[in-house]
Amino acid sequence: MEISARNLKEVCDIGGGANPLLNAAFIRSNAIDYAVLDISQSELDKAPDEYNKIQVDVGAPLNEFCARVGKARFDLVFTHMFLEHVEDPICVHQNIHAALRPGGLAIHFYPSPGNLPLVVNRLLPDTITRPLLRMAQPKRDMEGRQVKFPVFYAMCGGPSPALHAKFGKIGYDVLRHTGYIGHWYYDRFSVTRKLERAARVLLLKARIPLISYCLLILRKR
Ligand SMILES: C[S@@+](CC[C@H](N)C(=O)[O-])C[C@H]1O[C@@H](n2cnc3c(N)ncnc32)[C@H](O)[C@@H]1O
Repeated sequence: MEISARNLKEVCDIGGGANPLLNAAFIRSNAIDYAVLDISQSELDKAPDEYNKIQVDVGAPLNEFCARVGKARFDLVFTHMFLEHVEDPICVHQNIHAALRPGGLAIHFYPSPGNLPLVVNRLLPDTITRPLLRMAQPKRDMEGRQVKFPVFYAMCGGPSPALHAKFGKIGYDVLRHTGYIGHWYYDRFSVTRKLERAARVLLLKARIPLISYCLLILRKR
């Protein structure tokens, strides 16, 4: 997405928390009004002070959300590893829709639970998944900027007519929805890593949509 080439000036990072995606120097040099929204003030506090941080629940009722964030304000809203954490995705997508200008884009990158580690993460309690995650990703800063948040994976599936119909009903056109196979949870363990890499090729060849991540681009009508 070429923010500067398209001259997008009002940009919003939802669930940006401790790790806003856009670099502060890039925002300054392109004179972008960049808002970082997050439900957690303590997560926002971990991000540098130069960002415009707004503490808000993106799943709040529409009027409440718009009063805090504004209506038809943004050219571009994006989320990165956020949608899997929301319990009421319809409400969240409606709020994002209200915050966008007509023709504005919502770009989402989210995990989809089409693999064993994410199914385990979805079904088992934190007391079990946390130590497993620590084993798979020992360098992850779980007490700092890479906290493990509760997951629901609601409306976090791969491309399907049923899912696209839901976005259509909210008032979006689906410009792109791509599912990606493969993940990195086994990278520390050579046997499972090799098996997982081999399985990617087979799944792709057989066109079996065991998807791990999705890129979704929506345009407000
Ligand atoms: C896994 S973190 C992702 C942070 C960042 N986008 C990244 O990629 O590193 C998910 C973030 O979503 C925030 N979040 C969860 N539910 C939210 C909600 N209803 N409204 C706003 N933010 C929420 C969490 O506080 C957390 O900062």
